[in-house]
Amino acid sequence: NKILYKDQIMERTNIVDIEDRGYQFGDGIYEVIGVYDGEPLMMDEHMERLARSARELKLPLPASISELKNKLMQLVEANGLEEGIIYMQVSRGTAPRFHEFPDPKTPAVTIAYTREEARESDVEVRGASAVLAEDIRWLRCDIKTLNLLPNVMAKQKAVENNAVEAILHRGDIVTEASASNVFIVKDGELYTHPANHYILNGITRRKIIDLCGALHLTVHEESFTVDELLNADEVFVSATKLDIIPILKIGGDTIGSGDPGEITGKIVQAFRSLYK
Ligand code: PDD
Repeated sequence: NKILYKDQIMERTNIVDIEDRGYQFGDGIYEVIGVYDGEPLMMDEHMERLARSARELKLPLPASISELKNKLMQLVEANGLEEGIIYMQVSRGTAPRFHEFPDPKTPAVTIAYTREEARESDVEVRGASAVLAEDIRWLRCDIKTLNLLPNVMAKQKAVENNAVEAILHRGDIVTEASASNVFIVKDGELYTHPANHYILNGITRRKIIDLCGALHLTVHEESFTVDELLNADEVFVSATKLDIIPILKIGGDTIGSGDPGEITGKIVQAFRSLYK
């Protein structure tokens, strides 16, 4: 089990065993935690979600959540990280390659490192575009697993179209985006897909729902269609470190007025005040 410090990341080729189950099967889980001014944001929520992902996959964590948290705090301090992310993953360990779980005594392999990332200057204010992509993932998207190939394919489609995100839909229903959750605003109220097995229940998503309570904004955790997405007054996506990005165009369609919306702006302000 390794905590990687800044200067060790370069040696990463030495750290993956060919028979690490994360490497061979994607058999593992991960978290990405934002760090602002040296402080991890919503660390407890991320670690609770890690514990849930572990339970759902019957993957025993190598240490208690509070021990893992302490290690991550030490890592941030040792690296002097001010702005960026902590990446942490836990795989089911290293064992001869058979699909079934290895011997229960096989220790999980836990790796964490930090990455400096400048604060996105004004994309929250400027907004960006998105594309649509069919959601071809499995039916346990609520677990934050290392299996991200459909997400990778969708994000690549976005990048090839100069977009920040690919908004995913299963048939008519919008689920989430390749690496973020999706909200729409219609007639002053917000809608986002319910937190079930079709989406990852984002920590940023949950915080936005809380903040909306304080802002007296109504949020419906209800699914909506692609048509409703394209005809929304405002659309935004949310995720760790990316925070909140207003979506002004989806494919060829302009959303609302084509400018970042007023309600999105209020939520961006409220979210920023968590760390500014
Ligand atoms: N992804 N949905 C998906 C599919 C995601 O991968 C993510 C985050 C989210 C937003 O979750 P949160 O608000 O807890 O970050 C929703 C991370 C950032 C990643 O894979 O890099």
